[in-house]
Amino acid sequence: MIRLKNLEFNDPIIIPSGIVPDVKEFIQRVCKEYSPSAITTKTLTLSPLPPHSPPTLVKFHEGCYLNAIGLGNPGVEFLKDLNVDCRLFVSVGGSSPQEIAEVARIAEEKGELIEINISSPNRRGYGASLSSQVYEVVKNVKGSVKKPVFVKLGPWDNVLDLAGKALEAGADGLTLINTLKGTIIDHETLQPVLSYGTGGISGKCIYPLALRVIAEVYSEYEAEIVGMGGVFTFREVIGLMSVGAKLVGVGTAIIDRGFGVIREIRRDLYAYLEQNGLNFEEIIGRAVKR
Ligand SMILES: Cc1cc2nc3c(=O)[nH]c(=O)nc-3n(C[C@H](O)[C@H](O)[C@H](O)COP(=O)(O)O)c2cc1C
Repeated sequence: MIRLKNLEFNDPIIIPSGIVPDVKEFIQRVCKEYSPSAITTKTLTLSPLPPHSPPTLVKFHEGCYLNAIGLGNPGVEFLKDLNVDCRLFVSVGGSSPQEIAEVARIAEEKGELIEINISSPNRRGYGASLSSQVYEVVKNVKGSVKKPVFVKLGPWDNVLDLAGKALEAGADGLTLINTLKGTIIDHETLQPVLSYGTGGISGKCIYPLALRVIAEVYSEYEAEIVGMGGVFTFREVIGLMSVGAKLVGVGTAIIDRGFGVIREIRRDLYAYLEQNGLNFEEIIGRAVKR
């Protein structure tokens, strides 16, 4: 059993934002067939936003991807008749603290946890563009909702400072990490492969970054953390938990391998616990000296 704020989970595996397509029947099917501990919605804004034009996703190395969907989403109204049998974490975004708070207020009815996305690198004026306003954003959202509020941050040099401001403003926890901005150039055209020019790096290439960021934030604040970044096997789940994550997202691995990877990781995770005589709570934070 894992306790995160007022919520209890049997196992740590969740699906992070942007991985399950925003199609209601699809979300319910993933929920029924793979039973993740929670499904995080695509980041939702007050009105629908169109995605960038293709290509928006490119694999540049084994297990490593670059994406620039650009926060394309159907708008928060999408939640209205979304009914799934799994826990929903709702990722909320916007172009101002007021918009994000309004989205969070609407999202609260369906979401058991509200995750503020101020870290997406893929659309000017949204996501990471608002990171310097983290304190004001969190204050606004906390003033609008009662459910736990988590703040999703990227693996930036000032992440400790921003995490501190988020917690000071009343955030209940942190989601770490979002993608890191990068680019890939097509050597034939000598132009960026992605239509947006840049995209967020995800998958195996960011795992050591996720470990380091979560370890630093956990050892500084002992915060509640939902961890993610490059989890492909049970080993990375154990790794992220050992530096302080309570729940762990499996994102790019699903894009690369399919949803069945959830079952594989869960099976191996329980085998590991049994072989080592451990339970989940005993692993959380073990690698971080405090
Ligand atoms: C195609 C794609 C779309 C994503 N969309 C979002 C999003 O809308 N909001 C968000 O907060 N993170 C988004 N992310 C970031 C993931 O939720 C996650 O933080 C990141 O990919 C690191 O985990 P991973 O290496 O397991 O994929 C997206 C990632 C991918 C690959």
